[in-house]
Amino acid sequence: MDRIDGRQVNQLRPVKITRNYIKHAEGSVLIEMGDTKVICTASVEERVPPFLKGQGRGWVTGEYGMLPRSTEVRKVRDSSKGKVDGRTMEIQRLIGRALRSVVDLEALGEITIFIDCDVIQADGGTRTASITGAYVALVDALTKLLEQGKISRIPLNSFVAAVSVGIKDNTVILDLNYAEDSTCQVDMNIVMTEKGQLVEIQGTGEEKPFTKQEMEQMLAYGEKGIMELIKIQKESLGELANLIGVEGNGSG
Ligand code: CDP
Repeated sequence: MDRIDGRQVNQLRPVKITRNYIKHAEGSVLIEMGDTKVICTASVEERVPPFLKGQGRGWVTGEYGMLPRSTEVRKVRDSSKGKVDGRTMEIQRLIGRALRSVVDLEALGEITIFIDCDVIQADGGTRTASITGAYVALVDALTKLLEQGKISRIPLNSFVAAVSVGIKDNTVILDLNYAEDSTCQVDMNIVMTEKGQLVEIQGTGEEKPFTKQEMEQMLAYGEKGIMELIKIQKESLGELANLIGVEGNGSG
């Protein structure tokens, strides 16, 4: 099958991660996957939500938004409607779960890291790009805490990244852009650690229910894409990448 942008079926779009993109946040990244661009920040607060008080554990939580003109047709801001829509809620929860899956919350201590993912240009795969970029911002924020002596090691057990896969014209494809996403029959988002362990799979075959065999192939493409993304995360982090997973076989 020929793809709209000439890619192989199992090929990612060009990926670029720019660290230290925002001045004020402890960690900040611009991630570009093709024409999808997301700013991810990680902000540190030395307190935890009420349900965790006094337990000596930390928390990582996610928020997600799309700028009005990130989309082809202007999208009204959530804030101007006074409530967060269902899609946004689902995506921000996903971002939080994805990152917490690799964080040793006990080693973090009573600290909350707020992850904010703001889409400045949407062309498919914004939630998965958010997770991949946010992880790098999180490493930078944790490194600052380590330098300040507020934690004794980087409390990360593994790398984590995410990618979309789907089925279009009976063919499994990796990393869908909007033109593909809006015309595909099956759409799946995969979150996976460096160890190849699945954190989350969101898959929908509303238009064409898919078989277990097709799912296997989607997972295989997804794993290939995620391992490439983790390699890019590592390249962007340089030496810092060596601090991850060192003592981290505990919880998280
Ligand atoms: O972005 P992601 O694939 O995670 O989420 P989606 O809900 O499957 O949306 C796919 C794409 O549709 C987005 O990346 C945008 O390009 C587009 N979209 C949009 O233009 N306006 C929206 N309100 C939601 C999505």
